[in-house]
Amino acid sequence: MLGREGAALEEEIAALCGVAHGVGVASGTDALILALRACGVQAGDEVLLPTSTFVATGSAVSALGAKLVFADIRPETSNIDPTELERRVTPRTRAVVAVHLYGLAADMDAIVSFAKARKLPLIEDNAQAIGAIYKGRRTGSFGNAACLSFYPTKNLGAYGDAGMVVTNSAELAARIRTLRNHGQTAKYLSSEPGWNSRLDEMQAAILRVKLRHLSDWRRARRSNAAEYTRLLQQVPGIMPPFKPEGCEHVYHQYTIRSEQRDALQQHLAAYKIGSTVYYPYPLHLQPLYASLGHKRGDFPHAERAAQEVLSLPMYPELRKDQIVRVVEAIAEFVKC
Ligand SMILES: Cc1ncc(COP(=O)(O)O)c(C=O)c1O
Repeated sequence: MLGREGAALEEEIAALCGVAHGVGVASGTDALILALRACGVQAGDEVLLPTSTFVATGSAVSALGAKLVFADIRPETSNIDPTELERRVTPRTRAVVAVHLYGLAADMDAIVSFAKARKLPLIEDNAQAIGAIYKGRRTGSFGNAACLSFYPTKNLGAYGDAGMVVTNSAELAARIRTLRNHGQTAKYLSSEPGWNSRLDEMQAAILRVKLRHLSDWRRARRSNAAEYTRLLQQVPGIMPPFKPEGCEHVYHQYTIRSEQRDALQQHLAAYKIGSTVYYPYPLHLQPLYASLGHKRGDFPHAERAAQEVLSLPMYPELRKDQIVRVVEAIAEFVKC
């Protein structure tokens, strides 16, 4: 049902991102599909996106029948390398998707100026980075549209699936409102194909309560990350996450790099310390995209990241003694 809670949440999330409109949808994936479609992406078009991301970024492009054109990442940030956009753009390129991976903004100055110069719509995949800041502005306010996920594990998570598109364009917002509700422009009058992608009222109500805590949770994540980084700086062979000047990371993930990642992960597991690899396969090496004909070596920075990244326990309630325990276990591994 589209009701008062959803409408209020749309306003609150749009305000948080510093944009005019929010349109609640059923998931972050739907947010991407609908934003791309509202920006005019159609079957056969090319869409530029980083190869290091969750598969949903890619599936949204393929759901429209568009072609994924991958870009490599910057090794320090794991975010898209803007110089790759220039290398990969063609006359068939119809849109750019920038992902703010792990909660750190991509290099928006360069990406925005590339998209503007080429008159290409820019969509931010802000699923992991709600509240992040790039040079004084919130992520989600740079593109023609930005997509959020409220999947339960996200920094702002519902008790089920939910997502949102935020935008400064009244026209795009109106189009996405139509598309999320069976293409209806008036009651029981549909002018184009859409489907049911409503953000559930119950989820909206839950998200509105949790939203009141988000800035405290963000602060707690930042403080946990600072403690990890302070302690890890003494541990050779471990690269803590890099935070470029002017960026406020929201640490959806605290992701280190190690050349012995798999052995390190096993070592941590022996101490019952959970850790996860986001993501073991860049999209260009996913069997799903084998038909695009990529091979190992095509995107070397993304491939190396896939071998080395490891996300450590990170949540607002994480205690300092738990962080010490994780770092001690890593230090013991490094000494062996
Ligand atoms: C980078 C990224 N994009 C898109 C999505 C898709 O969001 P959802 O799971 O809500 O469909 C996610 C999260 O799962 C994500 O991490």
